[in-house]
Amino acid sequence: MTRLLAAATILVLVGWPTFRVNARRENGAAPAYPQGREVRARADALLAQMTLEEKLGQMNQLFFFGSTADGGVANGIRNGQVGSLLFVTNPALINSLQRIAVTESRLKIPLIFGYDVTHGFHTIFPVSIAMAASWDPKLIERSQAIAAREARAVGINWTFAPMVDITRDPRWGRIVEGAGEDPYLGAVMAQAHVRGLQGERIGSPDRLLACAKHFAGYGAAEGGRDYDAANISDAQLWNVYFPPFKAAVDAGVGCVMSAYMDLNDVPATGNRWLLRDVLRRDWKFNGFVVSDANSVDEMRNHGYARDAHDAAVKALTAGVNMEMSFGQSVYLKNIGNAIKQNQVSVKDVDDLVRPLLEAKIRLGLFENPYVDETKVKSTFAQPQHREAAKAAAVSSAVLLKNQNNLLPLSKTAYKRIAVIGPLADSRQNILGPWSFAMDIDQTTTILAGLKNKLGASTQIDFAPGVQMNRVFPSIFDQLLKEKHPPVWSETQAADEFRKAIELAKGADLAVMVLGENQDMSGEQASRSTLDLPGRQLELLQAVKATGKPVVLLLMNGRPLDISWAAENVPAILEIWYPGTEGGNAVADLLFGDANPGGKLPVTWMRHVGQVPIYYSHNLTQNPSQQDKRYWNEKFVPLYPFGYGLSYTTFAFSNLKLSQPEIRVGAATEVSVEVKNTGKRAGDEVVQLYIHQQSGGASRPIRELKGFERVTLAPGETKAVRFKLGPEDLRYWNGAARDWVQDAATFDVWAGNDSTASLHTTLKVR
Ligand code: BGC
Repeated sequence: MTRLLAAATILVLVGWPTFRVNARRENGAAPAYPQGREVRARADALLAQMTLEEKLGQMNQLFFFGSTADGGVANGIRNGQVGSLLFVTNPALINSLQRIAVTESRLKIPLIFGYDVTHGFHTIFPVSIAMAASWDPKLIERSQAIAAREARAVGINWTFAPMVDITRDPRWGRIVEGAGEDPYLGAVMAQAHVRGLQGERIGSPDRLLACAKHFAGYGAAEGGRDYDAANISDAQLWNVYFPPFKAAVDAGVGCVMSAYMDLNDVPATGNRWLLRDVLRRDWKFNGFVVSDANSVDEMRNHGYARDAHDAAVKALTAGVNMEMSFGQSVYLKNIGNAIKQNQVSVKDVDDLVRPLLEAKIRLGLFENPYVDETKVKSTFAQPQHREAAKAAAVSSAVLLKNQNNLLPLSKTAYKRIAVIGPLADSRQNILGPWSFAMDIDQTTTILAGLKNKLGASTQIDFAPGVQMNRVFPSIFDQLLKEKHPPVWSETQAADEFRKAIELAKGADLAVMVLGENQDMSGEQASRSTLDLPGRQLELLQAVKATGKPVVLLLMNGRPLDISWAAENVPAILEIWYPGTEGGNAVADLLFGDANPGGKLPVTWMRHVGQVPIYYSHNLTQNPSQQDKRYWNEKFVPLYPFGYGLSYTTFAFSNLKLSQPEIRVGAATEVSVEVKNTGKRAGDEVVQLYIHQQSGGASRPIRELKGFERVTLAPGETKAVRFKLGPEDLRYWNGAARDWVQDAATFDVWAGNDSTASLHTTLKVR
């Protein structure tokens, strides 16, 4: 009765006309779903009608791997006990499950369907670390808009992306899912992903609700071991790990996922300070927080929650709106009792359910709960999706070495090319982790791409040479569309190795594709070493010993120890996991139909023992003395952050500040000229770095504060401008526990990597 009264009051307050089904048209085309105060009013009107169990149902998200809409989950939906499902990708099944929610449940609240659309859905784009290597936010926006369109076409409404965790430890497998080591680059990339996935606002046609994950500090897992605790100082949190999350929130991200691990001894999913004080109070986040899979219940495993009841209370108090689980929803089972025991209140529940309803309202799910199954094929078949995937793969490749300009290769000089390596013709591996929903037959491997490019005029032969496998198998194996090949016997392995060498001997050129299988990076894919797995180095050395020119293509999701190759192989191109069009993109790059312009979003170590090694470290009392560091290894990396070559050359000049002296709080403009000094058109990424020379804290030796990727014709010069203002010059001071801007002198550098030498000075008074 009271519920009915409350609902009626709200209807009177907001007015019936605004409450009716409300799919208006914007510019006569795109539906515009409710926004602003109307959203809140509708959510409140619904809340007023809901039983406690229905509210807890909205907070319940379940993995669903079934193939029919019946059984326990269907009943749960019918009874209002399920608010969301994840991992359903079949549009007919999505519609059937949705039909139960909107026709058979009491309040007809639609389900929201989630999935990890991380770097493509049907058309697979390069993995996120590769996208970051493009240093091209517009490209990411375009790519993610396509990924969103394809996922939306099957009825998915929500993606668990972008992953914006900073990491400085390539042993951590999930480095492949993020933008690398730098907070500035990470923040720009985070915003580009959110804009691409969500569009201008939540509910934009053909887009998804985005979810920034994993809040926060997951990338600092001790030892790079997945899920291990993160111990991060206050200053590091605010200066390094938080900025990409804050940027995603500023870009309007609708969801944040709480991380699995302990952050400074408190599991992120039960961390009130993180989820309420930082995220909601300080950053004004008004979307919802979803837990990572089972992470509410698993707070017991951390030794943080006494039992499932305690876990539910702790997560709810911390501010987790939705519990993602494999079926052990501890909210549903325990919050009722917790209310009876006065540990949490109905109002606490309402405040967490409201944003969930609001998201569904904003997405237009009440007006359009179903997906049009007839449009899936035509959406997937759009040729511009593949073109965009190819462009992204081209832009994200990083040329690490090109001795005597071996690359680009002539299309006519090599009559016989040997393509060697376990990754050269693998369709699953070229797509990287989190690729499950694509049509694998549409994948272009490196071998296929080279054949497409050269046709019959060149003889192209392939030998894998070696195999590689994880020591402990991956839990994701069961989801793969192309299974791992059967493991060779010792004799077979010896034969295959020999065949590869013979092939190289008979060829004019060897293209080697080495790196890691896709399941060697990603979740639960951390490593204690960073060498080329298996006998790949041996294979590379044996092919090199044939005396034939060797081009090394690296397919991987993290920097690997390639010291031998860096010394001995003339050309090395980092192609990451380049996606559906990877083979064609790489062929364009190798034969000069495209020019590499990607840059490393992560420092490339020489040896795993140097980890963590990152460009933005603090100075010490002997900043640059080798003998004070390791006695057996250089202390500098193999390739610096921001590094990448091109088939042309660039020169930087005229670094100027519009005002070389400013007051605290004021801004100056930095300008620099970049010229293409070579004979080919090419892209350069102009990078701006600063260093604060003294002040209230030791500041990093360099910090990225601006970048722009420009395309220049031979001989062309461009002036690039950046603003340096208080936002760039301040930092979080751990002792003051606040943002601080010091009056200090700053070094300013511009150039094409983090060792740029063109320098000037800014004085802040
Ligand atoms: C991962 C998340 C992912 C979720 C759903 C978890 O294991 O940590 O990143 O979004 O599964 O697939």
